[in-house]
Amino acid sequence: MPRLGVNIDHIATVRQARKGDFPDPLQAAGTVKKAGADGITVHLREDRRHIQEKDVRAIRRKVRLPLNLEMAATSAMVAFARKVRPQEACLVPERREELTTEGGLDAASRVPDLKKKILALKKAEILVSIFVDPSIRQVRAAALAGADCVELHTGRYADSKGKAAQRREFAKLAAAGKEARRLGLILNAGHGLGYGNVRRVARIPGMNGLNIGFSIVSRALFTGLERAVRDMKALVKI
Ligand code: PXP
Repeated sequence: MPRLGVNIDHIATVRQARKGDFPDPLQAAGTVKKAGADGITVHLREDRRHIQEKDVRAIRRKVRLPLNLEMAATSAMVAFARKVRPQEACLVPERREELTTEGGLDAASRVPDLKKKILALKKAEILVSIFVDPSIRQVRAAALAGADCVELHTGRYADSKGKAAQRREFAKLAAAGKEARRLGLILNAGHGLGYGNVRRVARIPGMNGLNIGFSIVSRALFTGLERAVRDMKALVKI
């Protein structure tokens, strides 16, 4: 059964709208745990637009669920992760002007640099994932760089309009997933997944975990966070 990691960045987005103390991502992490999620995901962005360093530290210290820290592959972020020691780090591309992480990391163009950063993270006993587009080339580059895991970017699949386009995008995810398993990588996926499109991705053979945020936090406005997580968990179960 794939694991559900809940990304709580957007709890912090609401807090940062007033730069106050609430809603508190730590409280959200507790609710997410109570609802049966298998992990907490946060993205500490360079511009600190939502999650702050103190949030990552507090969640790591106080919440008894594995923490997946999404982070740019920079020396500063590697140093921060080595101090906080989340159970998992997911290397993602970052551009200041983007609304969200719009594509996978181009691992193929920077294998030697990634190798060094991944080794530094592994030395701190952090499981390392790379967020890549569903491409065989990128999955192979992630393995070459020494990652333990790939997270396939499901954004194009989630945004595709019409059955044919969705089928095409899904086929890329399935093929990249197969290659990841062949190479012995742990297989995760995420981005843009919601209540209407998640089941198919959850059923990709060997799928270890899905990281989902925006759809859950949006639904939570109407149902409450606990119910929104429970509803997603029920769909992810296979
Ligand atoms: N996985 C990664 C690597 C991401 O960057 C994000 C977005 O922060 C997610 C999963 C979650 O995406 P969404 O909020 O669209 O569910």
